Amino acid sequence: MRLIVLGAAAGGGFPQWNCACEQCQRAFSENPHSAEPRAQTQSSIAVTVDGDHWFLFNASPDLRQQILATPALHPHPRAGEKRQSPLVGAVLTNADVDHIAGLLTLRESHPLSLSATPRVLSVLRANSVFNVLNPALVSRHPLMLDHPQQLALPDGRPSGLEVTLFSVPGKIALWLEDPTAAQFGSVPEDTVGVRLRDCRAANTPTAFYIPGCASVPPELAERLCGADLLLFDGTTYTDDEMIAQGLGHKTAARMGHMAISGDTGSLATFSGLGIARKVYIHINNSNPILTIGSPARRMVEDAGWAVASDGQEYIL
Ligand code: MLT
Ligand code: MN
Ligand code: ZN
Repeated sequence: MRLIVLGAAAGGGFPQWNCACEQCQRAFSENPHSAEPRAQTQSSIAVTVDGDHWFLFNASPDLRQQILATPALHPHPRAGEKRQSPLVGAVLTNADVDHIAGLLTLRESHPLSLSATPRVLSVLRANSVFNVLNPALVSRHPLMLDHPQQLALPDGRPSGLEVTLFSVPGKIALWLEDPTAAQFGSVPEDTVGVRLRDCRAANTPTAFYIPGCASVPPELAERLCGADLLLFDGTTYTDDEMIAQGLGHKTAARMGHMAISGDTGSLATFSGLGIARKVYIHINNSNPILTIGSPARRMVEDAGWAVASDGQEYIL
């Protein structure tokens, strides 16, 4: 299995277009030869098991830029096929703007499969702009929670990539929040993590992709125990950093994310679960781990975590 980080940043990207915070300013003035933090695009990964057919996990508003930056996703001319792409489908972990807006980039009458929970698919169905993905060409596949399922290629052949969606603590997409409802109207199918493996053989390595997660209850910890690779919600370093930096009025918890630091943070939570490789992804522009050498970055690296960066590749 090959996994490429297309976008390591959270919604808004890094730097964010309207952010004059110190860290974003240093990324705006990016000089490839300096130690300034590198710009990162918005949240997505691409995965293949056969090296030819790639699935997106989340479709970021930066998808076109991500495809340009990723040779494995460029169309390769083949006899008789002027319009074709290694991209064969997309799997969504929620209906957040940073995870669905890229679907609009995938118009152009191209056969693809689109997989998500019935709840997330219903959000797309309710918004007619997503009909630019012509339903005659882009098949929708509802995935039931906790059921391993092999993704299909657009022509129906098996892809070899097995995914299992599972609910994680979180909340409904910001743009769908109902301020009058309990938990803003969130249901378990609103936010999921994904377990991925190559199912063409037995006992193959497992990777988990969980870009949004508000806490780790015991059953989630148990599920992740012994994983070969974990890509996990690295939105903020401290719960109140957006407030402390004067960038907003919401805590990470209010946004459906758990902070990295603190007694209940992900650093403390994941020590001792026997996970071979742990990587923070979906990193907000306020998070100091984006700056190499910062105390926060050193803290996570000393604890055995890596920090995702656009273009990074993992082979399992
Ligand atoms: C999130 O990850 O919390 C969302 O992407 C927030 C948003 O939609 O702006
Ligand atoms: Mn997000
Ligand atoms: Zn900023």
